Amino acid sequence: RTGFYQSSGAFGYRDQLQDVLALLPSRPDIARAHILESAKYQFKEGDVLHWWHPPSGRGVRTRCSDDLAWLPYVTAEYVKATGDVSVLEETASFLEGEPLRDDEHDRYARYKSSEVKTSIFDHCIRAIDHAATQGIHGLPLMGDGDWNDGMNRIGIKGRGESVWLGWFLSATMTRVAMLATLKDDVEMATRYRRKAADLRRTVNEVAWDGEWYLRAFHDDGSLVGANGNTECRIDSIAQSWSVLSRPEGGEPNQRERTAVLSADQELVREKDRLMLLFWPPYDSNVHDPGYVRAYPPGVRENGGQYTHAATWLGFAHAELGDGNGAERIFRLLNPVLRATTNADAKRYRIEPYVLAGDIYSCEPWTGRGGWSWYTGSASWTYRLGVEAILGLRKENGGLRINPCIPSSWEGFEAWVRLEHETIHIVVENPDRVATGIAQMTVDGQRVDSERVVGAPTGGAPPPSGKVREVRIRLGTKPKPKDAANYVSVS
Ligand code: GLC
Repeated sequence: RTGFYQSSGAFGYRDQLQDVLALLPSRPDIARAHILESAKYQFKEGDVLHWWHPPSGRGVRTRCSDDLAWLPYVTAEYVKATGDVSVLEETASFLEGEPLRDDEHDRYARYKSSEVKTSIFDHCIRAIDHAATQGIHGLPLMGDGDWNDGMNRIGIKGRGESVWLGWFLSATMTRVAMLATLKDDVEMATRYRRKAADLRRTVNEVAWDGEWYLRAFHDDGSLVGANGNTECRIDSIAQSWSVLSRPEGGEPNQRERTAVLSADQELVREKDRLMLLFWPPYDSNVHDPGYVRAYPPGVRENGGQYTHAATWLGFAHAELGDGNGAERIFRLLNPVLRATTNADAKRYRIEPYVLAGDIYSCEPWTGRGGWSWYTGSASWTYRLGVEAILGLRKENGGLRINPCIPSSWEGFEAWVRLEHETIHIVVENPDRVATGIAQMTVDGQRVDSERVVGAPTGGAPPPSGKVREVRIRLGTKPKPKDAANYVSVS
């Protein structure tokens, strides 16, 4: 939360909630504690502090449109990974304060905590309900910025809408529906599942631009991320999240594939090892997206490589079953490979052993690293490698294995330490495929690789200290995502 380039030390509402996703396999206790802590920085109305400083808790109330929704999103991911539904019944207070006045964009203050405490589930519902606004196209309002903080004037008059937020909220609604199901509230689960589907439909109706999805609508209705634009013709996150927000089990459709392909073609510059956030950068006064255009073209969010977003493109490739594409993005992200020659190191200029938040994309700085030691980039890159490519995901306290690797790989070997035991995994790829499991054994016993197992299979945990052996042979036939293998380990 603090480093050479930004000596802040604040907790970012969306930032550290995303960071703890990377800890779900190894330290779910930290993730759980952070969910409970974050809930306390929510106002009764459902909105949250954009960031706060410990120990006083002073922070800024804003009109950012996505911060609040990371609470339900991450809570659901935590429950899915650990099976620990008890987190939903934990309680947390709210912050109390006058809502922002019409003429106020943000307010930095020390807010009081309420006497009243409600469940984390209730906090999640307040968040998603408050986040689910609707503009004239039926998309959520952009407010004073969504994930891209610098796009803070697209919706400053209260009318601009965000396409990315449409994807993200639909993903969150699907997760809230999953939580409602776990709480046996069928009516609520159906309601949120329907809202998620309606939102996806709306995005598809109003935001498809022919070869990719738009990024947003300005207050005056003009388009962000449209093919005809001279600035910001295409934005990466509106493409990657069309895939990342798909309800589990659904097959990706042609549009989603086309969107990711377009992002690849328009935004990935292999020669310079860059994966741009959008292109071209803002450099005139034609439109005012916000403070993003105050950066020189190609720097930080203004059309540079924003590493955090680049990892999402890698995830999208893996979700599409494209192991070559996912690994290519991982390799391009790898900071070690940016400094293999003297000339490269001189161009890159920053540490080759941590990730850069951004890398500049325009002359005379092309390839120069920006803010390094950025946790958002680090946690998502780690997950891209471990979860999306190696396919090792914690689920319901066990491990779900569903690799999506480059077809050139002979296989890989991994040791996974979950809370109570260690699993040794050997994956072989004799047919040189990217994904799909032909055969799998656990401690020498064959398990049905085509079976969908939604909960631990009930196998007794091995005596302590024993390593569980999993062997997998990848197979030739493409495999639907939900037929992944599930190993019960506890
Ligand atoms: C910074 C912020 C993060 C935001 C990103 C993109 O990394 O900390 O919250 O999403 O920039 O603007």
